Amino acid sequence: MGKKALITGVTGQDGSYLSEFLIEKGYDVYGMIRRSSVDFRERIAHLESNPQFHLVYGDLGDAVSLIKVMTEVKPDEVYNLAAQSHVQVSFDVPEFTADVDATGVLRVLEAVRIAGIADKCHIYQASTSELYGKVEEVPQNENTPFHPYSPYAVAKLYGYWIIKEYREAYNMFCCSGILFNHESERRGETFVTRKITLAAARISQGMQDKLYLGNMDSLRDWGYAKDYVECMWLILQNDKPEDFVIATGVQHSVREFTTLAFHHAGIELEWQGAGMDEKGVDKATGRVLVEVSPDFYRPTDVVNLWGDPSKAKRELGWNPTKTSFEELVKIMVDHDMKKVKNA
Ligand code: NAP
Ligand code: GDD
Repeated sequence: MGKKALITGVTGQDGSYLSEFLIEKGYDVYGMIRRSSVDFRERIAHLESNPQFHLVYGDLGDAVSLIKVMTEVKPDEVYNLAAQSHVQVSFDVPEFTADVDATGVLRVLEAVRIAGIADKCHIYQASTSELYGKVEEVPQNENTPFHPYSPYAVAKLYGYWIIKEYREAYNMFCCSGILFNHESERRGETFVTRKITLAAARISQGMQDKLYLGNMDSLRDWGYAKDYVECMWLILQNDKPEDFVIATGVQHSVREFTTLAFHHAGIELEWQGAGMDEKGVDKATGRVLVEVSPDFYRPTDVVNLWGDPSKAKRELGWNPTKTSFEELVKIMVDHDMKKVKNA
């Protein structure tokens, strides 16, 4: 019998890649989904006929459903990826974000205990570089102090601490992966990278006039999601339960990402002006293609994320630079150029 893995958040970017990865490793994957009025599960549609892939209903806001799932499936590994994952949206729905991203983690842990599998089940918690927030050290590692800077980050901080608490109080094998931003052609369309690659594809094919962005000076350590899900698995195969920073160790600005994405779409941008008046101009035509909008500024913004993946490299043997920043941008733009062309 192969191992059984339960993935919450299976319909998300990471859930879909992790499902593929675990199926390839021989696991039976149980993906937890929520009921929705449209059955639109684009990222996992290709897996639904795979005999190793099973869907179960549950919601991180509903303890009963989690207990039922844990009791019926009795997974060897749980990957808790489900979350209200958009930082800007967390300012609009802070209570919901806290319920799912903070209390939801507690519900998962209690469900594992109630199902009687706490002594053998390994649990991965999708923690985040947003915990470093208003950063107190650059680059950030496992010992860098946290300073969460959004309702999302504050909720995720609870998730991080309750995982640590259950590890120490009940000797459970539960760990947090402190993942820095990771992107892909499956990234949600309102996160900045995908918003840019889709806009570059649409603008270059005459389907959109302009791209409006917020803070272009913001710095991120962007990796490829497909590489990062391997690390989630490695963390649960480790001899002892520990937390790990997962990052590339390379940092770029939103402006740099935009310049490179447009370059791959065949447009060379030149930046003019500063602050709210900054504009990205097409060098060939003089047309303004990128402008700044206050709508995409946050009440508090995290502007300097840069991870130090030394521990994951050393102790898990993980390669943080498998896909370079340049390759990542190209993968996303190539995908979106085709998507727009075939739309
Ligand atoms: P995502 O694409 O936004 O996916 C989020 C998933 O959570 C979706 O499957 C969503 O289901 C599910 N979900 C939301 N609320 C739920 C609830 N109440 N009950 C059950 N499921 C619920 O996120 P992602 O980029 O794959 O990220 C995965 C996890 O890693 C998240 O916890 C995120 O906070 C964390 N993280 C992400 C990054 C990154 O750069 N991607 C970095 C650090 C940490 P629906 O499809 O039904 O909405
Ligand atoms: N979304 C968005 N849209 N962000 C913009 C825009 C815009 O138009 N313009 C500038 N930005 C800036 C944001 O202010 C932020 O500083 C940065 O781009 C990245 O924003 P997002 O792509 O929305 O990601 P995030 O870093 O806030 O959050 C993501 O990464 C976290 C890990 O650090 C999410 O995946 C979180 O779930 C994850 O925890």
